[in-house]
Amino acid sequence: MAWQVPLADVRLTQADIDAVLAAYRSGWLSMGPRTLQFEAAFAAYLGVRHAVAVANGTAALHLMYAACGLGPGDEVVVPSMTFVATAAPLRHLGAVPVFADIVSELEPWLAPDAVDAAIGPATKAIVHMPYGGHPGEVEALRALADRRGLLLLQDAAHAIGARVGERHVASIGECAAFSFFSNKNLAIGEGGMVATNDDGLAEEVRRLRSHGMEMLSWDRLRGRAAGYDIERLGFNYRLDDPRSALGLSRLARLDEENAKRADLVASYRAALEGVVGCALPEREGARSSNHLITILVEGGERDAVRARIGERGVQTSVHYPPVHRFSAFHDPRTSLPVTERYGERTLTLPLFGHMTAAQQRLVVESVVAALAPS
Ligand SMILES: Cc1ncc(COP(=O)(O)O)c(C=O)c1O
Repeated sequence: MAWQVPLADVRLTQADIDAVLAAYRSGWLSMGPRTLQFEAAFAAYLGVRHAVAVANGTAALHLMYAACGLGPGDEVVVPSMTFVATAAPLRHLGAVPVFADIVSELEPWLAPDAVDAAIGPATKAIVHMPYGGHPGEVEALRALADRRGLLLLQDAAHAIGARVGERHVASIGECAAFSFFSNKNLAIGEGGMVATNDDGLAEEVRRLRSHGMEMLSWDRLRGRAAGYDIERLGFNYRLDDPRSALGLSRLARLDEENAKRADLVASYRAALEGVVGCALPEREGARSSNHLITILVEGGERDAVRARIGERGVQTSVHYPPVHRFSAFHDPRTSLPVTERYGERTLTLPLFGHMTAAQQRLVVESVVAALAPS
C-alpha cells in the first residue's frame, strides 16, 4: 500500500542532483576530492577538528570503537533503548556491551545513575545515544566519565544539529558516530561519519577505514609515494564521492530543514496535548535535532493502535524494541524496567521537513481516532 503519510521522506533539490551528476561526470567514483570537502564542511558544522566519512553509521560505530582500542574483555556501558548497531560492533570486537536503563518514559536516554551502577573494573567507555536527537543527559555523562576515568563516546545517528548551548552535542564526548541512512536528518542513502577533536583517534579511524593503509588511491593519483605498510588490520569502510557530493549539498540546508522539523514537532505537541503523552520534552539550553516524535500508548494497546493508524494510510514505527531482549543479546540477569515499559508503549509518528499541514492533520486525526475506536 502507498502510504498517504510515510514515516520519513526524502526530497532532493535540483542542486543536490546537479552535485551528484557533477561527481559522476568527473569520472572519479570512489573516495576522492568531494569526500574531503564533505569531511571539512561536516567538521566545521560540528565545530570539531576532524570528521572522517565512512560507508554507513554502523561502520562509523565499528571504527570509533576499534580506534579507541576497545576489545576482548573490555566492558562498555550502552543503552538498550537504541538501534542494535550501537551494541553489535562492540561484540564484533570481542568487547562486552553492558546495558543500562533510561531516565524515564518521557526521557528515554541513558540515566547517569544507572550508568554509574553499571560501571565495573573492566569498564572502558560509556556510549550515549542522543535519542530522537535530544541531547539527553550528555553533560552529566561527561562529568561521570571524567570522574570514573572513562571515555564518553556517542552514537549520534539521530543527533545532527543537536546542541547544548552553542556546542554541538557530538563535540562533548571523545568521539561520535553519525549515520546518513535514508530516514536520517541528513539522508544520502548509505553513509556515515566519525567526528572527534582527538588527532590520534582521527588518524586511526582514517587508517582502519581503508585496510589499515596510509595511502589511498586518491593520494596515488596525485603522485604521492606508492609504498605502504599494514600495521593493524582494517576494513574497507570508505564513502564514495557521489554520495559525499549529495551530503555536502544537503548539509548546506540542514539547519533550515531541522527548523521545519522543530515547527512540526511543536504543532504535534499542541495538537496532541491532553490526548496522548509525547516523549522527548524540550529542555532549556538544549536544542534537539528533532529526528523523532514519539508518543506513549498505555494499556498494552500500542500494536492495536498502530494497526488502526495504519488503516488510515499513516505509517508509524517503533523506536525501539530493546536490544537486551533480542536473542543474540539476551542475558537473564539484565533487568531494565523503564526501558522495557517504554519499548512496549512507544510509537513513532511521521516526521520530515516538507510534511504539509494537511498530512500532519491526517496523522493527528488518525491518532485521536485510533486511541478511541468507536
Ligand atoms: C541509533 C542508530 N544507531 C546506528 C544506526 C546505524 O546506521 P546505519 O544504518 O547508517 O548503519 C542507526 C540507523 O540506522 C541508528 O538509528
